[in-house]
Amino acid sequence: MSVPNNLNQKIYVAGHRGMVGSAIVRNLQAQGYSHIIVKTHAELDLTNQIQVATFFETEKPDQVYLAAAKVGGIKANNTFPAEFIYNNLMMQSNVIHQAFLFGVRKLLFLGSSCIYPKLAPQPIREDALLAGKLEPTNEPYAIAKIAGIKMCESYNRQYGQSHGIDYRSVMPTNLYGPGDNYHPENSHVIPALIRRFHEAKMGNNPYVVIWGSGTPRREFLYVDDMAAASVFLMELEKNFFDSKVDPMLSHVNVGFGKDYSIIELARMISEVIGYEGEIRFDSTMPDGAPLKLMSSKKLNLFGWRAVTDLEQGLHKTYTSFVENLG
Ligand SMILES: NC(=O)c1ccc[n+]([C@@H]2O[C@H](COP(=O)([O-])OP(=O)(O)OC[C@H]3O[C@@H](n4cnc5c(N)ncnc54)[C@H](OP(=O)(O)O)[C@@H]3O)[C@@H](O)[C@H]2O)c1
Repeated sequence: MSVPNNLNQKIYVAGHRGMVGSAIVRNLQAQGYSHIIVKTHAELDLTNQIQVATFFETEKPDQVYLAAAKVGGIKANNTFPAEFIYNNLMMQSNVIHQAFLFGVRKLLFLGSSCIYPKLAPQPIREDALLAGKLEPTNEPYAIAKIAGIKMCESYNRQYGQSHGIDYRSVMPTNLYGPGDNYHPENSHVIPALIRRFHEAKMGNNPYVVIWGSGTPRREFLYVDDMAAASVFLMELEKNFFDSKVDPMLSHVNVGFGKDYSIIELARMISEVIGYEGEIRFDSTMPDGAPLKLMSSKKLNLFGWRAVTDLEQGLHKTYTSFVENLG
């Protein structure tokens, strides 16, 4: 059901230095795509309309993977809400609109599971979108991402027939892997725990304290699987893709399909790292939502499943963490 690969297509991967963008570039290169275009943030500021227009006019790519975004944890989202909504709206509006103006027919927009209502039924299906209130801490970011999905759908609806526009959106669950952010205060749970356990092992600390009860359950997907899913979905034949989505509900969840408690995750990470001390949970600290699992039924219907289990993925991630310490 996928379109035969034309490996000479000119493909622009926006955000190629990020965790997801770099994994998409790895995947495309491994498949033999030979004409991948990338630009650093310094070379091309995607919030700048003129720069983006000039880039598309000059390069005229055939396809775009839009993995550039301003991303961050709860603290950053809470502290800089204006920057999160402005930068993301500008980047995606510039890229999607200029891509359209300069003849790009295929584009994949990367969103996030935070687009879903805070109290969405679990596992979260695509049709939970706009069915309830968002989590307030990252509402500005989520609103920008929802606008990105709706922009893709609107361009498909208005220009699909006349210009052959086929813009798709994917909503990944929590991702981890090489290129993750290990910032001590502003990182996601897997990189934060890898760093903490690694430092505890190196410092011979007898125990590691983890905030919260450890009971919340979360889903994690290895970033190379995310990249594989992105390329897979991009390459699906249009009639087949359209037969499984609605024009105004076209985004596709990308998840692993199974969740783990933070306790299970912490034990697995300590084993992967070889930390032999004790793991303590500080239940006086807040837990967050008890459960967050996406439904990947739609993606499975297309014929795709993740291949890297959590333990394998953590081994690869830790190897890359250690390699980058030097
Ligand atoms: N990581 C996850 O767990 C996760 C989960 C779900 C969804 N996603 C989605 O996946 C996408 C990519 O996330 P990621 O984790 O790969 O983020 P990331 O590692 O922070 O990468 C984002 C990239 O975008 C670039 N960028 C930001 N502002 C830019 C601008 N104005 N002009 C040009 N480039 C700019 C950044 O470059 P600089 O660093 O140089 O600014 C960076 O290379 C996002 O849409 C995110 O919502 C990620």
